[in-house]
Amino acid sequence: MKFPTDFYFGGATAAFQTEGAVKEGNKGEVLWEPFLKKQGRFDPEPACDFYHRYPEDLKLSGDFGLNSIRISIAWTRIFPTGSGQPEQAGVDYYHNMFAECRKNGIEPFVTLHHFDTPEALHQTGDWLNEENITKFVDYAKFCFQEFSEINYWITINEPTSMAVQQYTTGTFPPGEKYNFHKTFQAEHNLNLAHARVVNEFRKLQISGQIGVVHALQTVYPFDSTKKGDMHAAKLQDVLDNRLFLDGTLGGEYSQETLSLMNEILAANDQAKISITDSEMVELKQASDQLDFVGVNYYFSKYMKEYHGISETIHNGTGKKGSSISRLQGIGESGVPDGIEMTDWDWPINPQGLYDQLERIHTNYPKVQDIYITENGLGLKEEKPAENEILDDSKRIDYIKIHLQEVLRAIENGINVKGYFVWSLQDMFSWTNGYSKRYGLFFVDFDTQKRYPKKSAYWFKELTETKELSK
Ligand code: NOJ
Repeated sequence: MKFPTDFYFGGATAAFQTEGAVKEGNKGEVLWEPFLKKQGRFDPEPACDFYHRYPEDLKLSGDFGLNSIRISIAWTRIFPTGSGQPEQAGVDYYHNMFAECRKNGIEPFVTLHHFDTPEALHQTGDWLNEENITKFVDYAKFCFQEFSEINYWITINEPTSMAVQQYTTGTFPPGEKYNFHKTFQAEHNLNLAHARVVNEFRKLQISGQIGVVHALQTVYPFDSTKKGDMHAAKLQDVLDNRLFLDGTLGGEYSQETLSLMNEILAANDQAKISITDSEMVELKQASDQLDFVGVNYYFSKYMKEYHGISETIHNGTGKKGSSISRLQGIGESGVPDGIEMTDWDWPINPQGLYDQLERIHTNYPKVQDIYITENGLGLKEEKPAENEILDDSKRIDYIKIHLQEVLRAIENGINVKGYFVWSLQDMFSWTNGYSKRYGLFFVDFDTQKRYPKKSAYWFKELTETKELSK
């Protein structure tokens, strides 16, 4: 079986992870800058200098057969403090870059928010402050009207990663842990921010399509014969996936979703979150008008029953059990025998991608079109010798087994219309800095030179044959 002829094959990127040039064009600070500086973790500058090198990267994309790219607009290039007067340098930069995409035959899928909230708004409560939602909607409206050359818009990237890592695991700024009340309130507020943007998009009658991108982590019971494990999987699924799927695709929270969320809050002695009837009307309206959903899929989770206090450790040794997540009132994650892990302890399970696609198709039938907006493998890699090609066969295998699931989904009538590899070129990772490489193109961060990896050549062949080679 082949991929359809109009299938989008692309590379995925995000502004803060690629652009660098954090002070150019009067760009405003994002929440990561003071956070990373305080922790001394890594320097987000120069990333892979996409701000200056986009003509080269887009040409490489075109030369290697890609017909699309995921790109995000940095809110703080347009509005340095999140609102006010637009910054012309930022507006010009994006117009020029989008024109360069077209020149290379590349369709840009543009995300409005990819983890880079303006620091000024982070200081005033981030997504927990409703005024910031209004500022996000105003920024989105400006972009829709200004960048009329864009056909595919994405409201928010991975709201789940944001809320959970900001307030449950503490790996994103402000680094708060186990505050499930704030996590769920931020999740609901992100649903609301997304909904308000979609509703404005329709009201303004913007041409083109609009969608949202979710990180879906397929959650299974560690032992499906155990009731406690089954329940832990349901609880974790609400936190990671279901509140967002219900809120953005379904347009309402099911009774089960609400009661599982309240069970987690009660088990942690934390207050219920605020959800009003009029907000639910907005969510419903947006879900009726959504064009597509993007799925970012990397790994699955296997949950065991757990009764104790929360504790999370991530040390990335690639050994089973070296990452621990135990959440009070939810459960503990484990790795069953026979499951292979990535270098960063992520359990590889391509079936998990299929299961999410089928779930959307069956449980949320209002949304017809699905894109795989991220999938890929992070590896520890060294620069290839001159005239040698970096052999990342492991990445090719990973992508291939996931694409097989995409083909199976298409065969079974699920409308998957594109696949974007994370990532187009090497860049930094939010929690692991520059040591975790995902790119089709190796980047030497000292010289900023690009080297196509074996996977880039493999992907090129795929875009030509539309077939998975044996
Ligand atoms: C999801 C995010 O959207 C992206 O920014 C991140 O770097 C990748 N996953 C890899 O973890």
